[in-house]
Amino acid sequence: MTATRTPARFFAPLAIGAPEPYRVRPVRLERMIHFVPPHVGKITARIGDIAASVDVILGNLEDGIPGDQKATARAGFIHMARENNLGDTALWVRINALDTPWALDDVIEVVAATGNRLDVMMLPKVEGPWDIHYLDRLLAQLEARHGIQRPIMVHAILETAEGVANVEAIAAASPRMHGMSLGPADLAASRGMKTTRVGGGHPGYGVLADRDPAQVQAPRAFHQQDPWHYTLARMVDACRMHALAPFYGPFGDFGDEAACEAQFRNAFLMGCVGAWTLHPSQIEIAKRVFSPDPAEVAFARRILEAMPDGSGAVMIDGRMQDDATWKQAKVVVDLARQVARRDPERAALYGL
Ligand code: GLV
Ligand code: MG
Repeated sequence: MTATRTPARFFAPLAIGAPEPYRVRPVRLERMIHFVPPHVGKITARIGDIAASVDVILGNLEDGIPGDQKATARAGFIHMARENNLGDTALWVRINALDTPWALDDVIEVVAATGNRLDVMMLPKVEGPWDIHYLDRLLAQLEARHGIQRPIMVHAILETAEGVANVEAIAAASPRMHGMSLGPADLAASRGMKTTRVGGGHPGYGVLADRDPAQVQAPRAFHQQDPWHYTLARMVDACRMHALAPFYGPFGDFGDEAACEAQFRNAFLMGCVGAWTLHPSQIEIAKRVFSPDPAEVAFARRILEAMPDGSGAVMIDGRMQDDATWKQAKVVVDLARQVARRDPERAALYGL
């Protein structure tokens, strides 16, 4: 028995009347997923302005929303989605976890009211492909009932030890999969990590330099390490092997913009396409980090120009280029073109 449908059935709709699943995931620029609390009227009143400054706007119904405000947040999200023109900014929602009393109504009500506008449903605390299969079928039934024209995609948060162990099966579970985000806060708790933070490093997690035998008492350098490296790398590989988009999740210390930028940059260099922004100050950081550096773009364009058919070997500024660096250059230039289409200032910097 295989865990997923056969190749012949993989792309068949899961309910009569539901839209055909995507065979190729639509490409969009998603440098940040900006979280808003939909139960807070003074924020949802400004949603048009906020949406204009971000690539993805997400109404958060899960953690961070008090239990007695869950229904208000859901209604607030529906109102915000229906009453605003969000332009070409993507609209996402984070529903409550499948074992909570709110998840079923989140899915039923949100799809009924916003299904033709909603791009992605983010599912927290995904433990295995069975969670995706459940939501996949339920969404198909609701899409059929409400005449939804295009499939609502599913984005999994990787934030439990079991989820990490099953990350490849989760990525493979459905053509509805959009991508995954690392959820460092819940993952830390699930793993029994001894931290009280939302993402980032820890001063105690690092490597001490060797002792100098000639001066055993001399002070030794201590280099902090990134506790998320292993999980992020696993998640990026699982996502990319299934053509999904990997994201770093939240960074909770809003006052430490430098540390936020460092964490985002590690994720960008490792293959992630974006990160969550929980505070307005993080939006510019995400734009800066997840848009390629103009100097890197200029160099990548030189590689592409020097090897028009992508094969062979050339030297540029003393550095060897071949088919593999051509492919890396193409990743950078393709991303720059995507950014340029959305961001005229950066288009000018890239000369695109
Ligand atoms: C996000 O949901 C996290 O738990 O880090
Ligand atoms: Mg979480």
